[in-house]
Amino acid sequence: MLKTVVCVSGGGTNLQAILDAVEDGSITNVKIEAVISNNAGAKALQRAENNGIPGILMAPKDYPDRESFNVAFTEEMCRLAPDLIVLAGFLVKIPEEMVRRFDGRIINIHPSLIPSFCGVGYYGLKVHEKVLERGVKVTGATVHFVNEGMDEGPIIAQKAVTVEEGDTPESLQHRVMEQAEWVLLPQAIDAIANGRISVQDGKVRCVRRMEEA
Ligand code: GAR
Repeated sequence: MLKTVVCVSGGGTNLQAILDAVEDGSITNVKIEAVISNNAGAKALQRAENNGIPGILMAPKDYPDRESFNVAFTEEMCRLAPDLIVLAGFLVKIPEEMVRRFDGRIINIHPSLIPSFCGVGYYGLKVHEKVLERGVKVTGATVHFVNEGMDEGPIIAQKAVTVEEGDTPESLQHRVMEQAEWVLLPQAIDAIANGRISVQDGKVRCVRRMEEA
């Protein structure tokens, strides 16, 4: 069983997709040990509680400076000792020390086709606002391993989504979630938990491509 910690900041619809996939058996070999949030009001914490999963609050604003938050956050993660950390809409940069300690064991979902519309300042609804401003016709989502950079780690899987005439940031966000994020993230977790995907020397190793799984 892959001991997994999910980190969240907001609504937690990706967390819900993971919980549903564990429940219906499309993710196997995974136990969600805890959900960590930087936001006490996150609906995601409620979703964790509804599923009997411990919720842990770790907010930078509760610490005197970023360094002490980073130390406390890394220590908490080491205490939990997960095999896999899933960033499911987690809007806090992962401390470099945590990336080193959990090298190759942290994955993130990003709501665009990386390397477009990613990096500093691109998160949540803002990504879809920028996509519409630029007028691109295709967007999507990406699951990737996390390294020290921002949205720069090795890519596990991507799925394209069409931008439609009259889209608002909200309608586009919902389509990207429904058609890409809620599909890709559970598939990636199942692939890692069952040894079909790993990362070595900064490159993703696939025993079988995810879409063939
Ligand atoms: C999701 O769209 C996720 O891809 C995005 O935040 C949203 C969280 O929604 N993550 C990022 O932008 C990370 N850079 P959720 O809380 O309903 O899963």
